[in-house]
Amino acid sequence: MVIDAAAFGERRVLITGGLGFIGSSIAHRLVALGAQVSLLDVLLANNGGTPLNIRGIEDKVGVFYGDIRDRDLLRRLVAGQDFIFNLAGQVNYRESLANPFLDLDISCAGHLSLLEACRSVNSGARVVFASSRLVYGRQPSAPVSETASPDPLTLYGIHKLTAERYHQLYWRSFGIHTAVLRITNPYGPRQNVQNGRYGIVNWFLRLAMEGGVIRIYGDGGQKRDVIFIDDLVDAFLAAATTPAAAGQIFNAGSGQTAALREIAAAAIATAGKGRIEHVEWPAAEQQMETGDFIVDITKARRLLRLGPATTLAEGLRKTRCFYEDHAMGH
Ligand SMILES: NC(=O)c1ccc[n+]([C@@H]2O[C@H](COP(=O)([O-])OP(=O)(O)OC[C@H]3O[C@@H](n4cnc5c(N)ncnc54)[C@H](O)[C@@H]3O)[C@@H](O)[C@H]2O)c1
Repeated sequence: MVIDAAAFGERRVLITGGLGFIGSSIAHRLVALGAQVSLLDVLLANNGGTPLNIRGIEDKVGVFYGDIRDRDLLRRLVAGQDFIFNLAGQVNYRESLANPFLDLDISCAGHLSLLEACRSVNSGARVVFASSRLVYGRQPSAPVSETASPDPLTLYGIHKLTAERYHQLYWRSFGIHTAVLRITNPYGPRQNVQNGRYGIVNWFLRLAMEGGVIRIYGDGGQKRDVIFIDDLVDAFLAAATTPAAAGQIFNAGSGQTAALREIAAAAIATAGKGRIEHVEWPAAEQQMETGDFIVDITKARRLLRLGPATTLAEGLRKTRCFYEDHAMGH
């Protein structure tokens, strides 16, 4: 789908988690389309949010430093918005096991606060929620479509699934346009690359660009669907503007599958340096490993009318260019 300026020009948009990787990328696109953008972000410790992510548009967006769990603030921010991109959250599944109540609180109570604010002051807003492929866990067959039974292996996945259901209920019971995107493995400019917690593709690229060693557990044969950030932003915008997306869940992937060792090799080819080392699986990691994840994106392609996906080689090239011009600090 080609998103035209008419869909967002002069429209009011709130992005929760707006200083993070995906939220800020949506903000950059929306500012270019002429939207009036507000960002809510609490700059949660050990997450990807930073004011550096809005460099270049800082004078064109409103930034509210606050928490999605603050119900009074939410009511004030939600009033009058045409679109809400709901991305606030902690992003790491390991962290959800280390700090279960924080994850529960943000992913469940936080998103319920947002939906309640919509119900009380703005039931006409269109909401798109950032869920994750991790709601699926290990699936017996591939490709995985939205009708597969979710079987999350982590608290992060369980809480995302619960938040998805809140969003669907607010559509069914109160008629609020909510759409859910189950994001696969996103990568691209603005993702935090300080360590490997945020995204495997960017992390491999950082190591390669520094001429470092990419350590892969086992043979690295497990497959992932990788989606370039620009394509993911397209999916968010289309889910907000497509009436038929209301109440729906979409796999937000690219349909391009690569084994981890192939992603590492592509990162090395893009950087022109770096090397791979295979190491033994740590037991705790193996327990949470989903195995191959091959996703069916037919529904998103058909209903959201998304265009062809950026290839991994092209996405990595654009990402490398970004980090050549910006510090690796974010
Ligand atoms: N990056 C991925 O691999 C991936 C994959 C699937 C789903 N998602 C989901 O997409 C969303 C955005 O992810 P991202 O990659 O941009 O991560 P990110 O860490 O870069 O951004 C998340 C932002 O949410 C903010 N935040 C956290 N808790 C908050 C709260 N209580 N109130 C307000 N703001 C809060 C953080 O400060 C951060 O800026 C998250 O919900 C994440 O779970 C990400």
